[in-house]
Amino acid sequence: MRLIIDTDTAGDDAFSILLALKAPHVTLEGITICNGNVPFDQQAENALYTLEVAGAGGTVPVYKGCPLPMLRKPVDATEFFGADGMSDANFPMAAQRPEAGHAVDFLIDTIMSNPGEIEILAQAPLTNIATAWVKEPRIADNLKHLWVMGGLDNSIGNTTPASEFNFYVDPEAAKIVVNAGFRLTLSTWTLTMSSGLLPDEKLRVIEAMDTPLSRFFMTISQAPFKRTEMRYGRPLSTHPDSLTCACAIDPEIMLEVADCLVDVETQGELTRAYSSICTPLTAEEAEIDFLWPSAPANARVIRKADTNRFADMLIAALAE
Ligand code: BDR
Ligand code: CA
Repeated sequence: MRLIIDTDTAGDDAFSILLALKAPHVTLEGITICNGNVPFDQQAENALYTLEVAGAGGTVPVYKGCPLPMLRKPVDATEFFGADGMSDANFPMAAQRPEAGHAVDFLIDTIMSNPGEIEILAQAPLTNIATAWVKEPRIADNLKHLWVMGGLDNSIGNTTPASEFNFYVDPEAAKIVVNAGFRLTLSTWTLTMSSGLLPDEKLRVIEAMDTPLSRFFMTISQAPFKRTEMRYGRPLSTHPDSLTCACAIDPEIMLEVADCLVDVETQGELTRAYSSICTPLTAEEAEIDFLWPSAPANARVIRKADTNRFADMLIAALAE
């Protein structure tokens, strides 16, 4: 599998990069940085440090992409991840530096020169992917698969009641991407809350391993632990991005999927970035529910994942 990860590297984004690095059948072709969780350049530093701590410094190019959303003011998640996105660990600067080119050009060039070969895991706001598509729409046909972490599958959000963070930051980009004709699998925040919370016993295993990567995991999890304890009454280890990566590299982790019609709200007052997700209606149903969206499915939505299989993949990746 030839994979590019588009990321706003902070916390769980880093675990996703580790999973891809440690999967023997995955070649990580590049990492592209998009606006999102924490200050833009810091996200590139976090990706570079993650490569270094995993023993992969200098082996995977890191490209900086779009530092701002398309229309909206930037929104970050420093309160959740810490000012540096890594629970204020203030890691040293990695030896590897970002590449000179722009992430959007790297995405287009890599996809177009390898038709049908490249998959993208988009685990940030979708500004880079949407911009790449606007610049070269043929990437939709030439990309093998687009895995997106974003949106809500008819549940409450993590950013507003109606929205998930990645879609909320750049709703216009999300709308462009889901309607662009990519072969697309969507992993939502709803899935994170049902299948992407690391069970306590698995967390204890990671804590006890005491390897460089398990220590890295525990260090950068501290701010999210504190924040989720305030919000949910107990610390949670949430894995939106790493669960999505796990599904991409081991499809057996997906226990239930549905072909759905997905769109994104860009106009609402209280519903900025609300993701409308439904299964397409039959012709008979469409006659009854005539205001229901009636286009064909444009995404496969993951509805249930194997939490233990995912957790064991993560544990194996952190074992060094
Ligand atoms: C998503 O938002 C970000 O804060 C996380 O990195 C993840 O990609 C979850 O809503
Ligand atoms: Ca992310």
